[in-house]
Amino acid sequence: MNAPADRLGAAPPVGGDTTSTCTIDVRLDGAAWATHLAEATADGLRSIPPWTPPVWFYDDVGSVLFDRITRLDEYYPTRAERSILARHADEIAGITVATTLAELGSGTSEKTTLLLDALTAGGSLERVVPFDVSEAVLRSAAEEIAGRYPGVAVHAVVGDFHEHLGALPTGGRTLLAFLGSTIGNLDPAERSVFLRNVCAALSSDDWFLLGTDLVKDRSRLLAAYDDPAGVTAAFNLNALAVMNRELGADFDIPAWSHRAVFDEEHRRIEMHVVAGADQMVRLASLDLEVHVHDGGWIRTEISTKFTSEQVAEELDAAGLQTVEVWTDDDGDFLVTLARRR
Ligand code: SAH
Ligand code: AVI
Repeated sequence: MNAPADRLGAAPPVGGDTTSTCTIDVRLDGAAWATHLAEATADGLRSIPPWTPPVWFYDDVGSVLFDRITRLDEYYPTRAERSILARHADEIAGITVATTLAELGSGTSEKTTLLLDALTAGGSLERVVPFDVSEAVLRSAAEEIAGRYPGVAVHAVVGDFHEHLGALPTGGRTLLAFLGSTIGNLDPAERSVFLRNVCAALSSDDWFLLGTDLVKDRSRLLAAYDDPAGVTAAFNLNALAVMNRELGADFDIPAWSHRAVFDEEHRRIEMHVVAGADQMVRLASLDLEVHVHDGGWIRTEISTKFTSEQVAEELDAAGLQTVEVWTDDDGDFLVTLARRR
């Protein structure tokens, strides 16, 4: 945490308003990040069952595919969370009176505009801090925000939310948002550390807004992660293409297929890539060879489904007190507003 910025640059505002400022604070050091990801991937592939880090999904192609997933009929989380924010953004703005809206894993920041509109209408918003590991998506989102909210400073952070929460600017009242149930992509141990880090990053005037997907009918869950149009399959298999490029791997992509299963014990969807034939995968940068049998698989993502009690308990264990919760009409998704206890 608190690593110095290795690049801090101003991007020109879009939309012609010269009063917007848009800075991009790049905290990811390319070489260190590559080493970290290589080590994590090697550890994962040596584990039983083997797994790979979900961050491999979000190259430029994967970010576009994720955006398409969020528009699928079967993928309800984005719509459900948007409906909660549309209904309660004014209330959130009224409670928090936030001067800074920071968002971890912000992606396109599309739903975030509901919060930004409400905070702007309430007159408190001074600064927006989108924070994502994917620089291209972050840059375009930051420039769009700068164009849409003239007079509001945009300070984008290219960073890893496991490592760089120290890059969040301080001062004023921050509403720190973590939307989309991205927290569900972390395993219990990672969630615990992450939430403690979030708590440590908040001052007593700050707020944490967390979006979580709720446990529901298994057939709806499975359809959301295995859509008939094959967009989720393409998103999943793209992670292999990214590893081929970034790790010098030789995954023969047509020999792999997508699978989504629900793990009842951990109440989570798991996405797997399943081998259609015996094969040896070489990952040159990891100096690793992985032998996979026909039907063997690698877990590429977990997507935990929560109960509202579980969310409150996990927040509480990290020192965060639940102040308000909201759900959508169908009870599919939960948005929790919390603060330091
Ligand atoms: N918040 C958006 C996007 C969710 S997709 C929404 O609700 O729709 C998950 C986002 O988290 C992606 O943009 C991805 O690049 C980002 N991400 C994944 N792992 C990350 C990490 N370790 N640090 C920062 N961002 C991360
Ligand atoms: C980003 N994350 C919360 C998504 C999810 O639902 O777990 C990623 C995703 N994977 C498959 N579809 C969407």
